[in-house]
Amino acid sequence: MIIAIDGPSGAGKSTLGKMLAKKLGLLYLDTGAMYRAVAFAILEKGLDIKDHEAIIKTASESEIELSGEPESLHIFLNGRDISGEIRTNEVGQTASIVSTISEVRRILVKRQQELGQRGAGCVLDGRDIGTVVFPNADIKFYLDAKAEARARRRYEEDLQRGLDVTYEKTLEEINLRDKRDKTRADSPLSVASDAILVDTSELNTAEVFAKMLEIVEGKKSLIAT
Ligand code: DC
Repeated sequence: MIIAIDGPSGAGKSTLGKMLAKKLGLLYLDTGAMYRAVAFAILEKGLDIKDHEAIIKTASESEIELSGEPESLHIFLNGRDISGEIRTNEVGQTASIVSTISEVRRILVKRQQELGQRGAGCVLDGRDIGTVVFPNADIKFYLDAKAEARARRRYEEDLQRGLDVTYEKTLEEINLRDKRDKTRADSPLSVASDAILVDTSELNTAEVFAKMLEIVEGKKSLIAT
């Protein structure tokens, strides 16, 4: 069983993806964390964001591992745990820039396809899962919410993590990332024609989870009959 969850930043993909994977006993793959790991490596090396050759070399040489249970997933870069370091806005924006490079996408998509096929099934969250990584996924969700609602959630999470942020700046960053992720030439964020669209603007996590689980259970019983 492959479950694809796509959508813009802050729509709740990773929270819901982890909950679904845990409930269904499936693997969980946070594909954004892989782009973030490459971005982190680039920032650490001090590479020029325009130096595509060096960025592609870094992506192909980076050993990215994801391990642990869905709710406590750890991301390793060349054996080093970088789970906390990749959650900054700087790494997120750099990941969004790096993800426009086709060769970087090819390297990571191949890895995601290999990882997703291990085990009994996998929940993957990202931007191109239902359109490119697993176009034949059993279920495709597209989670969306108004930019203001997503910025509010992200802002509150960042405040809890003790980061020095403002709501206005968070909204500006969300809009910038949306624009880049939706307009890039290679595999832009878009709704797969067979995806189930869920707008999370007015729903809480438990409500969205119940809705998604109902759809998955319905699909599972269809597969079984
Ligand atoms: O989901 P996230 O915020 O951790 O993702 C960081 C960036 O990585 C996002 O702005 C675009 C890119 N990304 C992508 O292009 N394709 C994916 N499947 C996942 C993320």
